[in-house]
Amino acid sequence: MKRCVLVTGGAGYIGSHTAVELVEAGYDVVLVDNLSNSDELAVEGVRRITGVEIPFEKVDCCDREAFEQVFRKYRFDAVIHFAASKAVGESVEKPLKYYHNNIFSFVNLLELAGEYNCPNIVFSSSATVYGEADVQPVTELSPRKPASSPYGNTKQMCEDILRDTVAVNEGMKGIALRYFNPFGAHPSALIGELPRGVPQNLVPYITQTAAGIRECLSVFGDDYDTPDGSCIRDYIDVVDLARAHVVAIGRMIEGLNKENFEIFNIGTGRGVSVLELVRAFERVNNLKLNYRIAPRRAGDITLIWADTTLANNELGWRAERSLDETLATAWKWQQEVMKR
Ligand code: UFG
Repeated sequence: MKRCVLVTGGAGYIGSHTAVELVEAGYDVVLVDNLSNSDELAVEGVRRITGVEIPFEKVDCCDREAFEQVFRKYRFDAVIHFAASKAVGESVEKPLKYYHNNIFSFVNLLELAGEYNCPNIVFSSSATVYGEADVQPVTELSPRKPASSPYGNTKQMCEDILRDTVAVNEGMKGIALRYFNPFGAHPSALIGELPRGVPQNLVPYITQTAAGIRECLSVFGDDYDTPDGSCIRDYIDVVDLARAHVVAIGRMIEGLNKENFEIFNIGTGRGVSVLELVRAFERVNNLKLNYRIAPRRAGDITLIWADTTLANNELGWRAERSLDETLATAWKWQQEVMKR
């Protein structure tokens, strides 16, 4: 019997890539998205890659009644909750937007999952919960630092909400995946990251600069305490990241989880600096990028990368794509977007 997975935020960057991997692993998938920060073209892209007419419901997970209709219409074995607002800076300006969207939608989802017997929940968490960690790489046991933004706070709160909910709902299980820095696109270039307005994240800013949409990339700071002075992150290919969700779902459905609530770091285990990334992008795609050193960006941490031992050993998952491969898919996708 085919299992069915609800993917909220399914038209978004990570949601759409995960939908593809779920279908290719043999799951039925239903996508829900309010399209507030995404495009229905992503749903078309997922359909084209998989050759499956995947159902899409334009629903806001904060709208309890509309969301309940989705649970009435389908029967889900598992849900992956991507739907959330994600701009760190905006969350500082508009905290209630973040608490409203990110918390209400998740509470609605957990209530409905309980009422409609959907026992397996994956939550999109973030390395942001570690803040500026004292020891690198961070493990799942590294302390969570007080969040530096309402966005980060919602990630911490939702992890706790999931933990507390599965603790008292028999048969319900939860996995929080803490993503490091996702980048790149599906190799088909039919789906990828579609930032609205000026990109806040490094890789889309790089590809838009290479494409001539932005004049010059600002490298925020070269005076950090790192080998080349720029910040270090763990950049994880979005398809690798998507596959981690498929493994997490399988783990719960097959009853392989050790606890009702588990947390995994999803990264490569390798730290890469901003300047290293820029140079790799130039080399791989054989072009020159216009960039300059700019002042530090407020709120940036110096460095973070993942210890992925737990995900490697427990999930049997590891990042497979190289930095170079993914920088090539990121650029291929940018060129595809330009043709639209
Ligand atoms: N950077 C630049 N220039 C830019 C954009 C970014 O130099 O134009 C630098 C940043 O200063 C940082 C690095 O590139 O050193 C990565 O920045 P991103 O904005 O791409 O990613 P962050 O690590 O700041 O944030 C990401 C996610 C957040 C998440 C956070 C921690 O975007 O959602 O990781 O997990 F909260």
